[in-house]
Amino acid sequence: MSGVNDIRSTFLDYFKRNGHEIVSSSPLVPRNDPTLMFTNAGMVQFKNVFTGLESRPYSTAATAQKCVRAGGKHNDLDNVGYTARHHTFFEMLGNFSFGDYFKERAIELAWNLITKEFGIDAKRLLVTVYHNDDEAFGLWKKIAGFSDDRIIRIPTSDNFWAMGDTGPCGPCSEIFYDHGGHIWGGPPGSPEEDGDRFIEIWNLVFMQYEQVTKEERVSLPRPSIDTGMGLERIAALLQGKHDNYDIDLFRALIAASVEHTGVPAEGERRASHRVIADHLRSSAFLIADGVLPSNEGRGYVLRRIMRRAMRHAQLLGARDPLMWKLLPTLVNEMGRAYPELQRAEALISETLKLEETRFRKTLERGLSLLSDATSTLSKGDSLDGETAFKLYDTYGFPLDLTQDALRARGIGVDLMGFNDAMQRQKAEARAHWAGSGDKANETIWFELKEKHGATEFLGYDTERAEGVVQALVRDGKAVDAASAGEAVQVVVNQTPFYGESGGQMGDTGIIETDTAKIRITDTQKKGEGLFVHAGEVVEGSVKTGDAVVLTVDHARRGALRANHSATHLLHEAMREVLGTHVAQKGSLVAPERLRFDVSHPKPMSADELKVIEDMANEIIVQNSPVSTRLMSVDDAIAEGAMALFGEKYGDEVRVVSMGTALRGEKAGKAYSLELCGGTHVGATGEIGLVRILSESAVGAGVRRVEAVTGDAARAYLAEQDERVKALASTLKVQPGDVVSRVEALMDERKKLERELAEAKRKLAMGGGSAGGDAPEEIGGVKFLGKVMTGVDAKDLKPMADEGKASLGSGVVTFIGVSPDGKASAVVAVTEDLTGRFSAVDLVRVASAALGGKGGGGRPDMAQAGGPDGAQADAAIAAVRNALAG
Ligand code: ALA
Repeated sequence: MSGVNDIRSTFLDYFKRNGHEIVSSSPLVPRNDPTLMFTNAGMVQFKNVFTGLESRPYSTAATAQKCVRAGGKHNDLDNVGYTARHHTFFEMLGNFSFGDYFKERAIELAWNLITKEFGIDAKRLLVTVYHNDDEAFGLWKKIAGFSDDRIIRIPTSDNFWAMGDTGPCGPCSEIFYDHGGHIWGGPPGSPEEDGDRFIEIWNLVFMQYEQVTKEERVSLPRPSIDTGMGLERIAALLQGKHDNYDIDLFRALIAASVEHTGVPAEGERRASHRVIADHLRSSAFLIADGVLPSNEGRGYVLRRIMRRAMRHAQLLGARDPLMWKLLPTLVNEMGRAYPELQRAEALISETLKLEETRFRKTLERGLSLLSDATSTLSKGDSLDGETAFKLYDTYGFPLDLTQDALRARGIGVDLMGFNDAMQRQKAEARAHWAGSGDKANETIWFELKEKHGATEFLGYDTERAEGVVQALVRDGKAVDAASAGEAVQVVVNQTPFYGESGGQMGDTGIIETDTAKIRITDTQKKGEGLFVHAGEVVEGSVKTGDAVVLTVDHARRGALRANHSATHLLHEAMREVLGTHVAQKGSLVAPERLRFDVSHPKPMSADELKVIEDMANEIIVQNSPVSTRLMSVDDAIAEGAMALFGEKYGDEVRVVSMGTALRGEKAGKAYSLELCGGTHVGATGEIGLVRILSESAVGAGVRRVEAVTGDAARAYLAEQDERVKALASTLKVQPGDVVSRVEALMDERKKLERELAEAKRKLAMGGGSAGGDAPEEIGGVKFLGKVMTGVDAKDLKPMADEGKASLGSGVVTFIGVSPDGKASAVVAVTEDLTGRFSAVDLVRVASAALGGKGGGGRPDMAQAGGPDGAQADAAIAAVRNALAG
């Protein structure tokens, strides 16, 4: 019979032929539901389409949806490995009608698919309907030709399907397959229904209602259809198997773990192989959808799944981390249908390896503690809560791992004792916190964190998500509600808003309900794990417990991403150009620009800056994907990731790598590799362009570079371009000729200046006012005295030299008057007369007349100045008098 991949495509092709839009699976982390931990059914992505909140360009659809049921309301984790049909990860095939067809067409489509396309023997099928659903009863009779005894009325919630406590819901009809009398079990509704003979294969939900609150149920705008068929189950049936783990996909995964461990998948170790195969699927798909192992929320569920599998790997005697070795088999089996698995393969592989390597360090010791603590216990006894907590706290054993480890021996765990121990530890942490100085001011955040747990950050993968308001804080106090006009801080269970850290500013955007809107102007992290959104209620009022939609300002976030990624590229380029002493000393990633401080002892030259900028742009043009991996700090640093000295990192860090190095030792490897929790572009090309604006000093040995990227860089360049164009038009040349034109103008100006000085000199020597053209004779000494309007002090001296030469023997006094009315005086005395007259004495006389003081020079040439140019003639007269004695 056909394999899982064929069955999936047969299903989708069938519904496509029947006019359905084929829609891709949505991520495992629901974006549109604040209450769900993981996507657990095909209808989750259409929740708002059913209720009429959202409209789509199609009214019927079909999907193969990846689902996880572990943690939260639907939790199958405990049973996985020990039963034939429990999975943490499974695929749900489904067809949907949003107010298009209803019961009749849904039943018809289902019936034709399973009996005609899949060729399932109709005689082996029977169905259930909700006890009062006469319409469905009648339709099954008509379409399938069933006798009454094969349409079973079920009065319980088994035949009333609901997504969760709230959301779309309705009566349903389930299709069962009878695997035959050789297997124990009875039909649905019978006392033996829990047996394995009658297996549900498809659930058709007649979506008619929306559960608004626990008490209130309203009709949907239009009756709709939601169906769900577990792919693994139908594959088992079509492949003639009774057990889901015997289908081709699981056989391949189990064969891989058998090959790597050398332990056959039979007998007591069969469950371990199954656990590993199942958990590998959920772990890999969760990591591909952005969940990474952590100690909170979804990340902790992932960690529990991974560690549970890892204990089973240890049971199989695997000496080294095993899970990552099985990943290629999974990618081979499922990568075509889910390309995200291929894209994230490296990340998944490393995350699995890291988690298993770390956990192995405590696993053995934890297991030996467990075996000591239970050596005297027997079936029906319980492990004390204190030990279970110690295993959890010190050895990293999630509670369900401990329970799983004791399961085969029939030993339980004292859950009350476990919880008591947990509470005691929390109380100690609280007492410690309250006493810690400044932080005490922020006690409110710590208390809120204690009460609600850390905020789950979804913003690496999405900019829009739903959440539930956990707390509202006004003026430092928790309040129940806030209304229009009020400033408020909002804590939500999960958020796509980035809280300011690592230099990257917090996100802004909108948090809203149907009737209220809060404009968020900043997001900060507080109380070790809370994301606090600060803003103002601009419409309506919100209260704690409200379901809200959180939308990040997309354009601003895009600019932040680009600037943050560009900072990494500039950092690496600086290390390449300036040397590896360059280290980050500070960083501000704002939407409009980036500012980056680095250690470097001297200014960066214009050439260096240009090369740095070029290198960063070279990587931008590569448009290579930016990848984020989770690693231990030691491994990250061993790989060459840049870490900030003195920064406190957790055990595991996000490592962001971008670009491919083209030169040097790193050629072919990641260009930039940094520990970073910020948000980044998906591929370097999204940065567009980086442009360095300035380089300056901020302190001893620290330089600051400011730069712009993307639109801001383009705007900057456009502005520069406009300037050049304006210049060109003023200069009446092409923009390309501006520089040579300006150079020519500068040369011309120098030439003109020279000519002007010469002309003035000539004019002054030739014409002039006081003193006339010809030298006078004073007491037998030739004297040349002139006032030269518009001649600069620096030009007077050469002119005085010329005057001296023309006199042969005598005294020259020139007074220059500048346009602002100030005067400068030069007195020159020929060599033969310096014994009788000192130029210095004479210039002082002139200076005094000009309202100045002193003057200086040598006996043959001296200069002085004075504020009063109007006294120029008087100054000449004063020198004349002095000569006359
Ligand atoms: N939503 C329905 C289910 O999950 C089809 O069973």
